[in-house]
Amino acid sequence: MLNRREALWRFACFVAGSPLFAQRNGTIYPPAYSDEVMAPVNLHEIEEAAKKKIHKLAYDFIAGGVEDELTLRGNREALARVWLRPRSMVDVSKIDPSLELLGKKMDYPIILAPTGGKNLVIPDGDRIAAEGAHATKALYCVAAGGWIEKLSEKNEAPVWWQNTIGHATKSAAQAFARRTEDAGASAIVITVDNQYLSNRDRNNRNRFDYGYMQTGVPEDRAKVKPRSPAVPAMLEPHTPSMTWDYIDWLRSASSLPVILKGILNAEDARLAVERGAQAIVVSNHGGRQLDGVVPTIVALPEVVDAVGGKIPVLMDGGIRRGSDILKALALGAKAVQIGRPYVFGLAAFGKVGVQRVVELLRAELVVSMGLAGTPTLASIQRSLVRLP
Ligand SMILES: Cc1cc2nc3c(=O)[nH]c(=O)nc-3n(C[C@H](O)[C@H](O)[C@H](O)COP(=O)(O)O)c2cc1C
Repeated sequence: MLNRREALWRFACFVAGSPLFAQRNGTIYPPAYSDEVMAPVNLHEIEEAAKKKIHKLAYDFIAGGVEDELTLRGNREALARVWLRPRSMVDVSKIDPSLELLGKKMDYPIILAPTGGKNLVIPDGDRIAAEGAHATKALYCVAAGGWIEKLSEKNEAPVWWQNTIGHATKSAAQAFARRTEDAGASAIVITVDNQYLSNRDRNNRNRFDYGYMQTGVPEDRAKVKPRSPAVPAMLEPHTPSMTWDYIDWLRSASSLPVILKGILNAEDARLAVERGAQAIVVSNHGGRQLDGVVPTIVALPEVVDAVGGKIPVLMDGGIRRGSDILKALALGAKAVQIGRPYVFGLAAFGKVGVQRVVELLRAELVVSMGLAGTPTLASIQRSLVRLP
């Protein structure tokens, strides 16, 4: 049952014509959901709500990083060390976070990153997350384990498809490229930092069976023998033989843009441009692959400078606030991706949880743009930030 306040909010949002937020008397209000969904006021609190609802193994798998979690913490700590230099006396009565990326219009620069294992928190997690993305018009990147045809058949969301399972042969890579194109995706994303499954202490300690990513954690785990001991799992090969030729293989079979996810330095950024990648995601996999790699906000300027505007550069890792997005855009990112936050939204509240995460972040971004004196994405320049 809707209470009066929620009904009024929904009406206000409907009148404003936007599913994402309503503007009344110049004030921005995200839409209202049930009291339970509205209780967390930010992405950190949505994570707390999710933690109370899901199995500890699932929480550790999602929240955790690799080994000592230096990079996981580093992503957030480095963002906190970038300070904003807002401009005053700029007309910010209209704020427009829209952009064009790879020839497609987007309402705002937030993409849902590829994340495997959503069935750990809810059955058919990929589909439900895609529905949440669709409701907010967010671009959704389907992870390798997801079944893209299932999501695209109803055109539920604009999608990219990501691959972390290396195709050792040219014909297998070409088949993947054709399948992605036939399924209606608008880009192919290749994750380049996934040569091997990594050494995640939390999963090892929990004897996490990676099969749970498909099935969820069984009710009575004591009765289920893990398929394999956890520790050797770290050596499982994913893309150990993938090299730059892989991009040629994909491009020979499909006209879709190829996006490389996981680039962290100028050398690889230059090679990516030379070899025909059409976008780069500066990413360290959310601190889940090689521990001790550079935080993404630190790597971003180096990559942006090396690319020199030839292709768009995106970034992910540790984005939890609208002001984090502002910092990434100021340092040259065209858009950002979020991983854990929307998976926690899904875990806490299903489809509306995904929506709420995107809406909160978008509303925070819009308010931050207003307070920074940057009413459009084009007005967000490097001079907006002071680096440590
Ligand atoms: C549960 C989980 C599963 C993930 N699975 C994949 C994956 O299958 N492929 C991939 O390229 N990245 C994967 N990632 C990394 C994300 O795409 C993204 O780089 C990262 O989550 C961004 O950091 P954030 O979680 O701090 O936002 C995963 C991340 C999480 C949290």
